[in-house]
Amino acid sequence: MKEKWWKRSTVYQIYPRSFCDSNGDGIGDINGIRSKLWYLERLGIDVIWLSPVYPSPNADNGYDISDYYGVAPESGTIEDMKALIKECENCGIKIMMDLVVSHTSDEHPWFVEAKSSPDNPYRDYYIWRKGKADQAPNDMESCFGGNAWEYSEETGEYYLHFYHKKQPDLNWENDAVRKEIWKMMNYWIDMGVKGFRMDVIDVIGKVPDQKIKENGPRLHEYLQEMNRETFGGRDMMTVGECWGADTEIGKLYSDPERRELDMIFQFEQMQADQVPGKNKWDLKPLDLVYLKQTFAKWQQELDGKGWNSLFWNSHDLPRIVSRWGNDRKYRVESAKMLATVLHGMKGTPYIYQGEEIGMTNYPFSGIEDFADVEAVNMYRERERAGYSRDEIMKSLCEKARDNARTSMQWDSGHEAGFTEGTPWYHVNPNYIEINAEMALEDKNSIFYYYQKLIRLRKEEAVLTYGTFKLLCPDDEHIFAYVREWDEKKWLVIGNFYEEPAEFSYPESGRVILSNYEQETEILPGQISLRPYETLICEMITISKSS
Ligand code: NOJ
Repeated sequence: MKEKWWKRSTVYQIYPRSFCDSNGDGIGDINGIRSKLWYLERLGIDVIWLSPVYPSPNADNGYDISDYYGVAPESGTIEDMKALIKECENCGIKIMMDLVVSHTSDEHPWFVEAKSSPDNPYRDYYIWRKGKADQAPNDMESCFGGNAWEYSEETGEYYLHFYHKKQPDLNWENDAVRKEIWKMMNYWIDMGVKGFRMDVIDVIGKVPDQKIKENGPRLHEYLQEMNRETFGGRDMMTVGECWGADTEIGKLYSDPERRELDMIFQFEQMQADQVPGKNKWDLKPLDLVYLKQTFAKWQQELDGKGWNSLFWNSHDLPRIVSRWGNDRKYRVESAKMLATVLHGMKGTPYIYQGEEIGMTNYPFSGIEDFADVEAVNMYRERERAGYSRDEIMKSLCEKARDNARTSMQWDSGHEAGFTEGTPWYHVNPNYIEINAEMALEDKNSIFYYYQKLIRLRKEEAVLTYGTFKLLCPDDEHIFAYVREWDEKKWLVIGNFYEEPAEFSYPESGRVILSNYEQETEILPGQISLRPYETLICEMITISKSS
């Protein structure tokens, strides 16, 4: 079997607006990314997932695309994009584009045509329904709050939008829509991109009349058609964003025999700090037992039948060191511990910009600090529903997507080295102590720790292929597991809390990596773990053949 390169790869997500601004307009751009390739090369990553750089009115920061073939003026030009692909190729980095095809912008020419008249040839590119007695066709909700149907004056009908009203949903049942999308994907493939991250791909099979959003009846048929018509057989990498996936569904997407996608982002474990049955704003302390048992379930269920992606962060999630680590006294230790338990599992790891230097959540003080439509709408809705300002702010401070969208902290100079001008959004004031320049000067930094993890994944087949077994599944402090491959057995342990913890294991082992000074070996028996201590050890087992 030919090895799939993406199984040993590590992906780095760039949110271009906040990464690096090359021309002083305060918005990160493609040339800014080009100027930092040396940094990514030094980190050792293999793939860049580029969040959207397409022309967009930016109602949802680029996830509302008005031209699938172009580059937004604030991001650069198509020539810059070609240069980025070429320069990445020269340093062995592949580009994975964000593919946002469940909806377009309402300013996309297809929608402008579609809304103009019921007879327009583009009308059926979108989903239109008549209202019911001056009401929306049904009560489906938008993820950003409110009803998912918007009334359109021009023709007196409603169109569907699962996100912002400026993000009308495409009608995938229409063959012409799918053909347009295949054509566009092939355009980017021909330009040299090596992968696609597919935005909310699990809703393309929607059946709004039956109130079906995710996992619609034709979803997998569409993905198989996509595979055939575009990337199938072209040695690329694909990952679908699937909020509604369980392990059975995860296998449908990622079983190579089915020729759909290579892997998905599923979010079950990311719900470990929300009240069950409610949404992400309904907070509860981290349930470590749920977190690790959920990871373990995916590790085991997909073993040999699919492939996992491994991530803590993205542009949609708060910063992990603030969320499940400790962003004050143990920032460095906890960031390394979280990295270890994640990268030690089976799957392809994803790093979100700034995670590798331990960037933290932003210290928001009021609603005026938020730029994201999701946060602003949630504030208004919860205010109307009678929540106190403090309760709302607590949820936002912990979970708002804007936490991830502050500028990348490059150095301690003007605006953290992100721009020579005024940044479009906040810079976290802690950039004086937390920045890439300082991380590169400190051999014990989080950056170099990530570098080691990335290298280990390339060198050690046990990380790529080893079986996974969760240890002490009910322990409320420690996440520990064993990976085994060939004659290698690796033990990965992380103490998730500030309180010291005890862990016992009956074998001795050689320490491969840790976030504290260690002896070179651990002995059988009790191991005392310091705050947020983590270890990867190679266990000394008797060879099977001797
Ligand atoms: C998921 C993206 O990651 C998020 O940022 C966006 O708001 C929605 N999809 C809609 O495109």
